[in-house]
Amino acid sequence: MAATSEAARSQRVVVVTGAGQGLGRAYALRFATQGHRVVAIDLRADALATLAEAIRAEGGECLPLALDVGDADAVANAARDIDARFGRADVLVNNAAIFSTLKMRPFDEIPLDEWGRVLHVNVTGTFLMVRAIAPLMRRNGWGRIVNVSSAAVLMGRPHYLHYTTSKAAVIGMTRSLARELGADGITVNAVLPGAVDTEIPRETVTPAQKQAQIAMRCIQRTQTTDDVTGAVLFLASEDSRFISGQSLVIDGGLTFL
Ligand SMILES: NC(=O)c1ccc[n+]([C@@H]2O[C@H](COP(=O)([O-])OP(=O)(O)OC[C@H]3O[C@@H](n4cnc5c(N)ncnc54)[C@H](O)[C@@H]3O)[C@@H](O)[C@H]2O)c1
Repeated sequence: MAATSEAARSQRVVVVTGAGQGLGRAYALRFATQGHRVVAIDLRADALATLAEAIRAEGGECLPLALDVGDADAVANAARDIDARFGRADVLVNNAAIFSTLKMRPFDEIPLDEWGRVLHVNVTGTFLMVRAIAPLMRRNGWGRIVNVSSAAVLMGRPHYLHYTTSKAAVIGMTRSLARELGADGITVNAVLPGAVDTEIPRETVTPAQKQAQIAMRCIQRTQTTDDVTGAVLFLASEDSRFISGQSLVIDGGLTFL
């Protein structure tokens, strides 16, 4: 059908949150390479400018929007900007989260304000983005929402309870949103990456934990951003049209659902 042709695919407008670095940046670059127009959202304008420059240098199109996904007004304004620029939004990758900056500590040592910030950005931020972007998808009767959870939920990883709680909430949100949005031709799925090496050093996985995880994987090597981007592209594509409300674990076979 014409609607699924390569030309129609290249028309897609893909919104990626947390696109300034790490996995979000990798998703944005991969979508741009496939000919999609990318709306890159992050707190950090400098990182977005660098990303937009890289995408444009390859002949792609990128609209960088610096904002906090936990700020309802800023998110609503972003949806208006996207509508004004492109007149549509087809794919939303809810990737922004407080993650690499987290310090691991026992649950009863997590300060209450840190608990609140992590839940607000990782859960409420995802809700706000869907609330703002879904109307643009509904208008066209087609949409793909990919929410980024984590295999840390399946592992019951200790020492960042706010984070694992937030990523478990993302799975529940994904299932209920899938039911609410299915009639509009919008699928909603979650991806659960394992510990992925990015350009950003972090304290959430110690070298010893990393080696132990590698030893328990079916595919016993370090996980890179390239191991995750393809799965997200699939869930954002027409080929995944009969898959909704699902959780796709991308951890080299460390955990099984
Ligand atoms: N890297 C991993 O091992 C791994 C594993 C499983 C899941 N994940 C998830 O994948 C996603 C990306 O991981 P990463 O390693 O690239 O994380 P990261 O911490 O390196 O990057 C997160 C990005 O989100 C942005 N961000 C944070 N708060 C924001 C806000 N309020 N508004 C807008 N942008 C905000 C940051 O500026 C940063 O650019 C996260 O949701 C993370 O939980 C990562």
